[in-house]
Amino acid sequence: MNKPRFMTVVRHIIEEEKMHPEATGELSRLLADFTLAAKVISLEVNKAGLVDILGFTGDNNVHGEKVKKLDMFAHDMLIKAMDHGGHFCVMASEEEEDIIHIPSPYKVGKYVLLFDPLDGSSNIDVNISIGTIFSIYKRVSPPGKPGTVQDVLQQGMHQIAAGYVVYGSSTILVYSTGHGVHGFTLDPSFGEFLLSHQNIQIPKKSKIYSINEGNYKYWHPGLKKYIKYLQEEDTTTERPYSSRYVGSMVADIHRSLLYGGIFMYPADSRSPMGKLRLMYECNPMAYIIEAAGGRASNGKQRILELKPKSLHERTPVFIGSEYDVKMVEEFIAREEIEENILIKES
Ligand code: AHG
Ligand code: MN
Ligand code: MN
Repeated sequence: MNKPRFMTVVRHIIEEEKMHPEATGELSRLLADFTLAAKVISLEVNKAGLVDILGFTGDNNVHGEKVKKLDMFAHDMLIKAMDHGGHFCVMASEEEEDIIHIPSPYKVGKYVLLFDPLDGSSNIDVNISIGTIFSIYKRVSPPGKPGTVQDVLQQGMHQIAAGYVVYGSSTILVYSTGHGVHGFTLDPSFGEFLLSHQNIQIPKKSKIYSINEGNYKYWHPGLKKYIKYLQEEDTTTERPYSSRYVGSMVADIHRSLLYGGIFMYPADSRSPMGKLRLMYECNPMAYIIEAAGGRASNGKQRILELKPKSLHERTPVFIGSEYDVKMVEEFIAREEIEENILIKES
């Protein structure tokens, strides 16, 4: 990675957009609006320990999970920053059951925004990295009218931009419009995201795996064999791998993007579709990881090809370095072939 130029994220987005022939500059403006929300959320996250914002609002979100105040703060901040710029026809959030319409009198635009306002919220109170994830599409319904569910439920391959912010030892924004993946570190002294990681490419093979091993008992037998394979000693394939699991998807995937790695949240016998949501966690992350030269699947099919049926649907996810994701897919496929042979023989 060559030494990054002194460049703000807004300047970079403008330059990026010049590569899109049909660019109107609107994508730059809406991404600039997003960075404003990201700065305010970062400020709140970093002082969360100092004000009585920790703890629960007492409400539950659509998944029946206790919502921490910072989730709602981040949700409200993103809506406030994004709903009046005239860029979107509709929005959707992990924290809102239904799609979110653009309030009048604001102009209805041609884009669609989905987001996870705060990812890894179980880590808020213990000062472990959390994040925000966003995904942007072009509307598919006729212009001028309010957006629809069809505008929101698009396959991930149709995203025109996606990104995330990690609120960690520093606040980093990573985004892609399909032309490379770029990272920007927030300089809090003057509130600008400065280019710090240009054209990030994920290592093709890694030696780090990331999964919640507490669920081992419930996994697919092929996955169990894969994890045991990673723990064997074999210097030619750099095994045993190291295990790293933060419990914030954004942090685990950001590490995998920079160091290489495979992050997995599989289906298991208790959760047949896994835990992570397709539309505002797995699709944007898959878009970024593929743009950086990696791979993202549900164990059998590319995440970006999955046809969504509902806003909050979940999907198993295996994402990261191409060699490693292909390897786990092979273990799962081989097990199923063996199982089918056993069924045929029985
Ligand atoms: P969110 O806080 O948006 O609900 O996301 C939490 C997710 C994800 O960030 C993380 O990878 C996963 O939950 C961890 O789940 P487990 O605690 O079951 O491992
Ligand atoms: Mn999340
Ligand atoms: Mn969340």
